Amino acid sequence: MEPAKATLPPDILEAERTFSDALAGCADLDALMRLKGAYVGREGSHSARLMGLLKEAPKELKRDLGAAINALKGGWEEALKVRQADLEKAKKGKPAGAWDPDLPPPMPARGGMHPLVRLVDRLVEVFRPLGFHVEEGPEVETEAHNFDGLNIPDDHPARGSTDTFYFEEHPRLLLRTHTSPVQVRTLLRVAPRIEELGGIRLLAPGRVYRKDEIDPTHSPMFHQVEGLLVGRNIGMHHLKGTLAYAMKALFGPGAEVRFRPSYFPFVEPGCEMDVRCPLCDGAGCRVCKGSGWVEILGAGLVHPNVLSLAGIDPSVWSGFAFGMGVERLAMMVSQTPDLRLYFENDQRFLAVMGGID
Ligand code: PHE
Repeated sequence: MEPAKATLPPDILEAERTFSDALAGCADLDALMRLKGAYVGREGSHSARLMGLLKEAPKELKRDLGAAINALKGGWEEALKVRQADLEKAKKGKPAGAWDPDLPPPMPARGGMHPLVRLVDRLVEVFRPLGFHVEEGPEVETEAHNFDGLNIPDDHPARGSTDTFYFEEHPRLLLRTHTSPVQVRTLLRVAPRIEELGGIRLLAPGRVYRKDEIDPTHSPMFHQVEGLLVGRNIGMHHLKGTLAYAMKALFGPGAEVRFRPSYFPFVEPGCEMDVRCPLCDGAGCRVCKGSGWVEILGAGLVHPNVLSLAGIDPSVWSGFAFGMGVERLAMMVSQTPDLRLYFENDQRFLAVMGGID
């Protein structure tokens, strides 16, 4: 429509420029009606002028000019209608925005659970019927719980200050790098009563910290959910069955998982579990980097050393453990492309995630 506007004469362009000021200046409906008459009324000076222009225009210009005139008048009519509705409302009742004691008080926006909290709650609900209860541990941990008790050797790179946040004043204290120290704390606490309890089944959700730069898939703070089961004659089949069941409960009955061998000092054997990418159904996309699978957890059978270090006899007891990344899982469940969205507290994102109503 813009090029057609060039066909309008200067007095009409001037009228258009002054229109919005004139409209804003209409204090009541009478003034508005006068303005309406002049601009769009059949006999109004501006519309009469426009009709005259169209009549006189050479044939080949009529089309363009007609379009420009229609656009112009359409805009005027629309704006007049809006202003008229405002003025009518103001005339009928109280001035817009004024306090009305008859109205119920405005409801404050209702808050809701953060999407990550809700996912953790869902996981807890999935594992609860299998006998898993929730354990918590501190975010400021000792090296003993975060590394030593997990059979992690002294020269392991994760112990380095390039990967892990240490406290300058307390060199043996750190921000936990995973939720696995909750395994150690619980094993130590339960060891004297393990016979009587018949084993352990825990789920440990919480924050963990690593020296990673922030980008769409990394954050120096993120969440994990740890799982630990200790019993008698526990094998990889228990681990695989439990996790496959949990993923079906989470993603639906069609969820597929696969296990790949991997290494963690606190399990033997160790593995990683992938789920068939729910975003592309395995066809390959940006999130699964074309492979059709997304890694979501590390797992394995509890290393005998971890049990003995806690005072539990590994010739009697065995178990499996897993640790999953909550943000990873959340991004897939809700198709979120950027992990940072979870930490920015943008109300629009939280509302879309169903956290605010
Ligand atoms: N703690 C491991 C990590 O953070 C995950 C894991 C947990 C692996 C339990 C095996 C068993 O990467």
